[in-house]
Amino acid sequence: MNHLDPQRHVRGESQYLDDVPTQRGTLYAAVFESPLAHGKLRHLDLSAALAAPGVVRILTADDIPGHNQIGGIVPDEPLLAQGHVHFRGQPVALLLARTEQQAHAALKLIRAEIEPLPIITDPRVAAAQGELIVPPRTFQIGDSAAAWATCAHVFEGVAESGGQEHLYIETQGAYAFPTEMGGVRIISSTQGPTAVQRHTAHVLGLGMHQVEVDVTRLGGGFGGKEDQATPWGALAALGAFITRQPVKLVLDRMADLRMTGKRHPYSSDFRIGLDESLRLVAYEVTFYQNAGAAADLSPAVLERTLFHATNAYFVPNVTATAYSCRTNLPPNTAFRGFGGPQGMFVIESAIAKAAEELGVAACEIQRRNLLRENDRFPYRQPAELCHAEQAWDTAAQRYDLAGRRAEVAQFNQTNKLLKKGFAAMPICFGISFTKTPMNQARALVHIYSDGSVGISTGAVEMGQGVNTKIAQVAARTLGISLGRVKVESTNTTRVANTSPSAASATADLNGKATELACAALRERLLRHASTEYTLHYEGLEIRDEQVLAAGVPAATDWEKLVSSAFWKRVALTENAHYATPDLHFDPNTNQGYPFAYHVYGTAFTTVTVDCLRGTYTVDALRIAHDFGQSFNPIIDRGQIEGGVVQGIGWMTMEELAYNDEGRLLSNSLNSYKIPDIYAAPAVLDVHFLDTPGHPRAILRSKAVGEPPLMYGIGTYFALRDAVRAFQPRTALPFSAPMTPEKVLMSLYPDFSEAPAYNLKQGFPTAQ
Ligand code: MTE
Ligand code: HPA
Ligand code: MOS
Repeated sequence: MNHLDPQRHVRGESQYLDDVPTQRGTLYAAVFESPLAHGKLRHLDLSAALAAPGVVRILTADDIPGHNQIGGIVPDEPLLAQGHVHFRGQPVALLLARTEQQAHAALKLIRAEIEPLPIITDPRVAAAQGELIVPPRTFQIGDSAAAWATCAHVFEGVAESGGQEHLYIETQGAYAFPTEMGGVRIISSTQGPTAVQRHTAHVLGLGMHQVEVDVTRLGGGFGGKEDQATPWGALAALGAFITRQPVKLVLDRMADLRMTGKRHPYSSDFRIGLDESLRLVAYEVTFYQNAGAAADLSPAVLERTLFHATNAYFVPNVTATAYSCRTNLPPNTAFRGFGGPQGMFVIESAIAKAAEELGVAACEIQRRNLLRENDRFPYRQPAELCHAEQAWDTAAQRYDLAGRRAEVAQFNQTNKLLKKGFAAMPICFGISFTKTPMNQARALVHIYSDGSVGISTGAVEMGQGVNTKIAQVAARTLGISLGRVKVESTNTTRVANTSPSAASATADLNGKATELACAALRERLLRHASTEYTLHYEGLEIRDEQVLAAGVPAATDWEKLVSSAFWKRVALTENAHYATPDLHFDPNTNQGYPFAYHVYGTAFTTVTVDCLRGTYTVDALRIAHDFGQSFNPIIDRGQIEGGVVQGIGWMTMEELAYNDEGRLLSNSLNSYKIPDIYAAPAVLDVHFLDTPGHPRAILRSKAVGEPPLMYGIGTYFALRDAVRAFQPRTALPFSAPMTPEKVLMSLYPDFSEAPAYNLKQGFPTAQ
């Protein structure tokens, strides 16, 4: 079963926001951004821009009819700046013109008078000044303070991980239309149609029923459109509401890079204690999250960092504290893994530190401490149906762990200027929105009188294949062919109050709702068949579009059954609601049962570093992954491949640079490097572990969207391993990304040691 979309994608037939034919009278919007990262907004001179050709209007905070507020968790984010600016790129005014070119030309004529205020870009500085988005959180189990005395070995250190640009291919944008009775309709590139609807209604002072949001598909989201599609939707809607003309707002790439938030950079302190047999006894960690200038999703991201602070390991004594620090950068936001990867990077750093100091291989410590059945996470949920050890041991056997390590050691003995490195990366990722009430979804299923089927849910297709999966669930449950099923656009008037498509849970939540709706329709149709054709209801089923009675073909097939049901006035539409059972979590005690289940896996990474240049290749990632009972192995494998490469990018080459003035220096693809095909591992083996899946996963097929990104963390530690093979003395800080520049500098801590370049012979060659 293939992904249903790619053929249309490569033929250019798939419709994205920018493919929607423009309506006559459409105005083009451009956003005037704050040129300073922090200051008092004294005056805005719009006169020259207003006089420019084609300019129709310029809207500011004063034009907002409702509330100038789009904060999702904390109400701290105005749609348009009012009084103050808090980051470079913050929207200040919305300019509307007859053409896109006119809009952008006129934008340059706006003058803002801003009185500068001090700028903070470092989260530790923010924390020291008490600039916190929310009060700190602490997850705690056992008694780490008391446990240190019992440890044979204690190590401490600092670990830092950088941000990451989402770089969805389709930039942020929205197209808004005025509707009759003073409402608006918005076509939006968003993972959260309801978020766009709710905030737009709030901004315009309307009821949510006056705002319709429609999404066909996204050219990628990766978390960047969970909350941060909202401003563009709301701004376009504001323009349409006020002018009563359609308004289109699409960010160009560089504006998108400047104005939108990214993965949160973290700076963290860790302390880890082990006993004589390398068992983890205690772990203390403090996370400083660089939240940017407003809360956005930061408190939820912070919480997931704490949930995943111990990754796939059992640690009996843990104290993990996290600070969400307010800085003058664009508000950082959801990004694949949602804070989990940042937490996992720190414990892997702690284990690497312990291994290096003790002179043992990190994988000795890792394997010995993997979670076992019913071990408790610091938040008290037990690890049920735990496959951490199975994943590791299967990978170790299948991919010959001992052999791989010996190979690397052997290579390093015989090569001077090329060094290989190895790392194992186990993962454990919890599936569910950590905010329990968000774990609900609905599906609206129509069976048309000709037997075709239309499905609406809250799921947004962003490349991850959720529409294909939902169509599969429907076809399976109804016993019909996939060709009869159409998954409709995601629309707030058909399915209301939706959670964003996020947390890897989209197929589980919306798939389960679809399954419930289709099962109800199937039952109704079979009841009808039973009376209409006098058959025993028990033993009736639909398979391959044929009605079977006790396994024997009956006198009706799908089309006839549907048609006869319609003429007998049987309801052919069903709306179902699904809420993940059993979940609870108390954010005061930080204890409960927040996840439907966990996903496990292990990756082995091998890299080769060119110790003259500091460049490197990722030779191989070999992964044993817990998919449960995958019902779409092609899509699921694709999610692993994409996630892995995105994780490698985060850990190796994607380096966001802001200067002290809060200006993004890596502001284009010239200066911000993302992985290409050469950066992808030459070998990417994915083994589907034999696991039963979980009843709370759709058709026992486990969520797969985010977990594989974290396999990429292994690349960082494999590079570190290779660098240490060349330069054992080097004091390597735990600081990601491990760019070629950083590798080079750590190979030659004292630069005079670098191999001399000889004009005649060039560099000494690798053996
Ligand atoms: N895959 C593609 N191709 N495009 C995306 O934008 N987003 C990722 C992941 N895989 C994404 C993707 C993120 S951040 C999440 S949370 C999940 O897909 C969301 O979809 P799911 O819940 O259906 O897995
Ligand atoms: N994951 C992703 N997105 C979210 C979550 C989560 O746990 N909570 C709120 N938004
Ligand atoms: Mo994904 S970061 O939950 O959109």
